[in-house]
Amino acid sequence: MAAAVLYFLTELLPKRGSKDFDLFLMALCESEQRHVAERLNKWLSDDCSEDAGTFERLQHELRTHYNDKLQFVYTMPWLPTEGFSLKETFVQRRLRLTSGGRKGNEVKMDEILASVGEGRNKRILVEGQPAQGKSTLCQALAFAWSQPDEATENIKSFDLLILLHAGDLRGQDSVGEAIKTHLLPIDCGIPLRQLEKLLQEKNVLLIIDAFDEASTENEMLHQLIEGKRLKHKTLLVTSRPNFLENKQQHFESRFTVEGYNKEEQLEHVKRYAEHQRIDPKPFISMLKEESIIDLCSNPLNLTLLCLLREEDTQLMITRTALYTSIHRIIKQKAAKRLKLIEAEVEESLLRPLYQFAFEAHQKNETVVREKDSKKVKNFQRICQVGYLTNEVIISRLQKEVRFQFTHKTFVEFLTAKHIAEMDREERLNWMQHLRYANCQIWNGLATHDDFNVKQNEPILGFIFGLLEEESAELAEIASL
Ligand SMILES: Nc1ncnc2c1ncn2[C@@H]1O[C@H](COP(=O)(O)OP(=O)(O)OP(=O)(O)O)[C@@H](O)[C@H]1O
Ligand SMILES: [Mg+2]
Repeated sequence: MAAAVLYFLTELLPKRGSKDFDLFLMALCESEQRHVAERLNKWLSDDCSEDAGTFERLQHELRTHYNDKLQFVYTMPWLPTEGFSLKETFVQRRLRLTSGGRKGNEVKMDEILASVGEGRNKRILVEGQPAQGKSTLCQALAFAWSQPDEATENIKSFDLLILLHAGDLRGQDSVGEAIKTHLLPIDCGIPLRQLEKLLQEKNVLLIIDAFDEASTENEMLHQLIEGKRLKHKTLLVTSRPNFLENKQQHFESRFTVEGYNKEEQLEHVKRYAEHQRIDPKPFISMLKEESIIDLCSNPLNLTLLCLLREEDTQLMITRTALYTSIHRIIKQKAAKRLKLIEAEVEESLLRPLYQFAFEAHQKNETVVREKDSKKVKNFQRICQVGYLTNEVIISRLQKEVRFQFTHKTFVEFLTAKHIAEMDREERLNWMQHLRYANCQIWNGLATHDDFNVKQNEPILGFIFGLLEEESAELAEIASL
């Protein structure tokens, strides 16, 4: 009996989260066992304060995790093992303040955290166009915190830095649980209750990346933004634009990531060349080409352009042409690796992949779930093409397996490929659906506040690029 009680107290209850533990204490009180509840509560809080080394241990675990996981940036989907060193290639970003009295001012990355110490600006929003570098910015902040000697003052002032993807919060009962599941080793031995206590007591910076990728069925994310949880901690949320419209007012300061200016483009290509140990001249001259000026302000496109420049000297004029070229390289490499001809790769591996991307995009996700992966028999080979990373265990408790697209922009490009290959009727139907997906009817009038088209702009851009030759069809789409 004693063993069963001990098991219940030490193994079962902690996994259920603090809410359940409090319910358990309440139940004890209500069943005339208040003395047991009080002893238990006192015993547990004594236990917390006694273990003075827990904070240092947690800090150490987080720092080593970030140091191990964040030192590389993985840009090329077909080379998941070859990342760019963050330290060597990272270009400092400028952000523009879009709220408050200093609206319009430009700040450096680290300065977004400057005024939070004074008790204001606890909730910060960083928005940015697709692939403009939001995730890399979060990565750089967490990596800087993991290297205390090199970190700047603002980031150093935080006792704990927690970096999570918005999707990591789904299905969790508390932030502590999400940290245990996604950031700590299973056997680190830090009890959930102590972890939660440290989150309350310490100076914490919580960074949640990619609101746009996981805002649905995510109660905790909304509670954090609304200040219903960890209200007094600093929260930094990133998102693509147009996803947080009705939540903007919860953020004391809002920023957008600015596109690269000329100097930053130059720094980017120089660092790229140095990292690859090649001559920077061809990349520097590439920046002067009129036809690609637009593309160069985006760090992902610029990296892809450098990569293409290494493979080929021909330049790409539009974003669709650039992605089409990258796609072609991926297809060629896959054909070689899998010993197939390119047409076979297209037919048996890429078409199902377009479909997967389309379905993921419909759910505003960037993953393929295990149950969906089983719908096709050659899924493993589809993974080998390079757009999907190998299986990811998202929860150590539930052992759920899913497959991640390397980048949301690629999901959009592949989705657009799927839509471009639909027959005309089906495509127009998709457009109609998009047009009215979020419209609400008030007094018989459709209101367009939540209009879905803006969120789909990147896809629509790609579709127009892919269907360039079919002008009649484009005119029809545009008139919808
Ligand atoms: N500061 C930077 N220095 C150098 N390269 C960068 C930088 N920021 C981004 N990149 C390059 O651009 C790519 C895309 O960046 P990232 O994934 O951070 O964009 P994002 O804004 O999070 O995109 P999404 O909206 O799709 O989530 C990175 O993989 C990297 O190659
Ligand atoms: Mg991102």
